[in-house]
Amino acid sequence: MKILSVVGARPNFMKVAPIIAAIGDHNRKLPAAHSRGPEDSQEFIQHVLVHTGQHYGELMSDSFFSDLNLPKPDIQMGVGSGSHAAQSAEIMKRFEEILLAEKPDLVVVVGDVNSTLACALVTAKISFDSSGTRPLIAHVESGLRSFDRTMPEEINRIVTDHVADLLFVTEESGIKNLLQEGIPAGKIHLVGNTMIDSLLAFQPKSDSSTKLDELGLRAKQEIFPYALLTMHRPANVDNPEAFREILSGLEELAVQCPIVFPVHPRTRKKIEEFGLQLPGDISPNDLHGSGRPCAGILLTDPLGYLDFVCLMKHAAIVVTDSGGIQEETTCLGVPCVTVRDNTERPVTVEKGTNIIAGTAQEGIRAAIRRQREGQHQHGVPQFWDGRAATRIVDVLSRTAQPHSTRAQNKLQPTF
Ligand code: UD1
Repeated sequence: MKILSVVGARPNFMKVAPIIAAIGDHNRKLPAAHSRGPEDSQEFIQHVLVHTGQHYGELMSDSFFSDLNLPKPDIQMGVGSGSHAAQSAEIMKRFEEILLAEKPDLVVVVGDVNSTLACALVTAKISFDSSGTRPLIAHVESGLRSFDRTMPEEINRIVTDHVADLLFVTEESGIKNLLQEGIPAGKIHLVGNTMIDSLLAFQPKSDSSTKLDELGLRAKQEIFPYALLTMHRPANVDNPEAFREILSGLEELAVQCPIVFPVHPRTRKKIEEFGLQLPGDISPNDLHGSGRPCAGILLTDPLGYLDFVCLMKHAAIVVTDSGGIQEETTCLGVPCVTVRDNTERPVTVEKGTNIIAGTAQEGIRAAIRRQREGQHQHGVPQFWDGRAATRIVDVLSRTAQPHSTRAQNKLQPTF
């Protein structure tokens, strides 16, 4: 069987890495039963990794491949940045050619970025022969809904889910959402969260990160209290008033402890364009040698995966508008304040450490106070145990018939 997986943007890399590792484990178990070698076995999975190039460069892409032990992509599309239409159209044009050349049995797409939607759409409409044979589509991290259609990711999730054949869900809300939208139960599999698989697998390695020392946040084994901030959503950073409002909400925290802010390229551009003053703008020099780090916001380049996990794990509080960070802080038990009006990941609020603060300064300030003053009890959602990718590969190896879309009718639900 031939499986083709797609990565495009930063949050895709940690979701695909465990699936590739689980395919390797699956193949390694085969030789004993097949004397001519595993490749001759019907059950052998040949894997092709395609990178669309939506994110590019060392900081947004390459470093993740080394940090996560990801193999080099077999195919680099090199699409790069652009408007949603231009970027998606370019991915679609190039991905169609790749599918026709590779003819995989199954295409795996993950998450909710433009690359996810573009490649799912192409796969849904391709035909390898006159009878309409096409690969099955597996969507990993299916069923999440913010119910906010102004978010590009919400459109990407809905459309991808409706063309997918196998829908792998991270939390129970996903099952409910998909059933409500009329997706047949037989296509849905609650398997857990491959982003958490990566977090659990690479947490020990992240302990050797020296980022805390470089930033002056650790001295003589002591880690000083600090906050970690990420902000990149167009709704938050593309409008100067919205961005200023959020920064005002952070002022109180910025006088209490340093806020480390690894800046996404989109956000960096906007800070410069709007001439924004960040509360107590500081540099690592202000922190080093001061005995105790001073407060203020410390801007850094985007961080690699291991450095970021290390900073997240030791943070007193995380403030973010990311999707995945809500899940990772839940798993780590670190208090999280999400600067958005909604979340597509309700389990992080119900079971985890997450508070949805909204985007007004009072709401952000109040949520930060609550998190800093409150007691934290948190639980870890079902199947967020580091084995989601193994469950996924188990389903794929049982159900994906070469070049057959009819297989989907036989799928049994696993919830
Ligand atoms: C994308 C995803 C978002 C995800 C985020 C993670 C979509 C619709 N959005 O948003 O869901 O949370 O990735 O980071 O797919 N840029 C660079 N270098 C890069 C990539 C981007 O400089 O490697 C700059 C470009 O100017 C680009 C802008 O950042 O125009 C935005 O990049 P884009 O991929 O369009 O969306 P993200 O904001 O990164």
